Amino acid sequence: MAIKIKTLSGYFHEYQKSVVNPEQFWSQQAEEFFWRKKCDTILDWNFEEPKIEWFKGGKLNLTENIFERQIFTRKDQVAIVWEPNNPDEDSISLTYSQLFDKVKQFSNVLLSLGVKKGDRVALYMPMIPELAIAMLACARIGAIHSIIFAGFSSTSLADRIIDAQAKIVIATDGGYRGAKTIPIKSIVDEALEKCDSVEKVIIKKRTGENISMKSGRDIWWDDICQGVSTENTAEILDAEDPLFILYTSGSTGKPKGVLHTTGGYMVYTSYTFRNVFQYSQGDVFFCSADIGWITGHSYIVYGPLLSGATTLMFEGIPTWPEAGRFWDIIEKHQVNQFYTAPTAIRALMALGNKFVEEKAMNSLKVLGTVGEPINEEAWHWYHDHVGKNKCPIVDTWWQTETGGILISPLAGITPTKPSYATLPLPGIQPVILDNEGKELQGNSVEGNLCIKFPWPGMARTLYGDHERFKLTYFSTFKNQYFTGDGVKRDEDGYYRILGRVDDVINVSGHRMGTAEVENAINEHPRVVESAVVGYPHEIKGQGIFAYVVCNDMDDTTSEKGIIKSIKIGVNNIIGPIAKPDKILIVSGLPKTRSGKIMRRLLRKIAANDFTNFGDISTLLDPGVVEEIIEKSKAK
Ligand code: PRX
Repeated sequence: MAIKIKTLSGYFHEYQKSVVNPEQFWSQQAEEFFWRKKCDTILDWNFEEPKIEWFKGGKLNLTENIFERQIFTRKDQVAIVWEPNNPDEDSISLTYSQLFDKVKQFSNVLLSLGVKKGDRVALYMPMIPELAIAMLACARIGAIHSIIFAGFSSTSLADRIIDAQAKIVIATDGGYRGAKTIPIKSIVDEALEKCDSVEKVIIKKRTGENISMKSGRDIWWDDICQGVSTENTAEILDAEDPLFILYTSGSTGKPKGVLHTTGGYMVYTSYTFRNVFQYSQGDVFFCSADIGWITGHSYIVYGPLLSGATTLMFEGIPTWPEAGRFWDIIEKHQVNQFYTAPTAIRALMALGNKFVEEKAMNSLKVLGTVGEPINEEAWHWYHDHVGKNKCPIVDTWWQTETGGILISPLAGITPTKPSYATLPLPGIQPVILDNEGKELQGNSVEGNLCIKFPWPGMARTLYGDHERFKLTYFSTFKNQYFTGDGVKRDEDGYYRILGRVDDVINVSGHRMGTAEVENAINEHPRVVESAVVGYPHEIKGQGIFAYVVCNDMDDTTSEKGIIKSIKIGVNNIIGPIAKPDKILIVSGLPKTRSGKIMRRLLRKIAANDFTNFGDISTLLDPGVVEEIIEKSKAK
């Protein structure tokens, strides 16, 4: 395994090298990999067109770097541990050599169906090993995978298939999610009524439910793999050939197909994986994300497998059959690094300490979080109750577009501070700009987070829409990649993400991070979680509206009393400026299936606008919205 940073001075040293000579730094990181041909140019870039090329002219196949490069030392080592939705079902372990055979065989299947380098293949699957096998097979033959989270509706699925003009769809009959079964195949059938580009649909049996198979189009996975050879030679690609497209929501309607390429993404995900999580040989790494999101791409599949890790894939949800499921899995598989989202931590925290306290979880060494700011209360609960006060927490900040983690502690090396993503990783040059684009130097500043220099894992374009890529990320501030996030750099030079810039509220001319206000509200003993949005306010410009979820609410609880004490609490923690103007106590927040709070709904309701909510098909529970509207109208 390649060199890992081991000390704080080592981090500063590497960081310095990476800034002084980024090309040399990243070409050294790339050296451990197997290149069929070395690159002609390490980096060619400008943020105006924009054009970003890393290791151009370098020839490789990413799966040769997972398999051929490592197979002699790792063939009997477990690559993927799969934990099923239902704990009564057996888990599965695939060694590197077993996974390799399956990937080669499925590569041959795709080739036999006429899939060629550059073709798009859509994957709409639950978290089963075949999802990883199919994505790696695409990478092996040079096809571009587009994974669509299996919780998306048929319309969202169709939109994505059409945008990418996918030739093949790979799916299952159904999927398990806690106590629920998802009718995957019928959703695919509905979507495909609108998609002309799709020639074949491959179906892996999972639930065994009754489905209809369209003759000439639909093929069972097990049938088509029958008797197919496990000998396969990888397609040789250029470092800048596309690896995958992943759709993500933008501030405007249509989802954006973020495109990542091969060489740079490979180098970046493996480098960040082992340095951030301090993965050591033999460790078991468990990232609880779904592979349908970037976290799953980079830190369940690519980063870990490229680093020779054992990675755990979990099909189910944290609260089924009971709220201790994560902790059971950690004990059962002796997990060493656990990586999850703050929303999951808060949800589990709200269910009490019983489940987590029953478990020793002695194997745990590192805890990670990703996806949203983590409030201090959740951070401490995670640290004290899950990590038993002995595991460093890495609060990792990054985005679909960044490919891998950009700002994060290195586990056990960077001193942490609750709710701070701390310091940039080597190779990452963050800058903070004010709204006029002026760089705010030094510490104790707050503004728009941009990155001024390319890193190998960054997105190269939006599929089929380079102009939108330029407009979204490179036009707000000249010569900068604009992240869309607000950030604060504190007196120690530590970065704290304040949330999306459109979530930053300007109250009486003062910029206020919604995350910061939420943090303060969440300190209240009765508060489980909260979401703060701005709303038009006659005097202040914007007022603060807080939606708050409290525990133990019943008919006898005085909402008035709680609201008053929350206001006093916020006043005390941040100051009068942060005191919410309005607080609405609700039983839940509108969250997407990926766990993000749909703030645009809350902003509309806060503004007394109860019409035209747009697409709410990604909401986990649309009923929550109804309740909030009703309650808000009644106030
Ligand atoms: O606002 C930031 C937030 O999530 C956004 C990126 O979302 P997505 O592309 O879906 O990727 C999520 C997983 C990488 C960012 O712009 N975000 C992500 N990580 C953090 C975060 N906010 C605060 N702290 C984080 N650690």
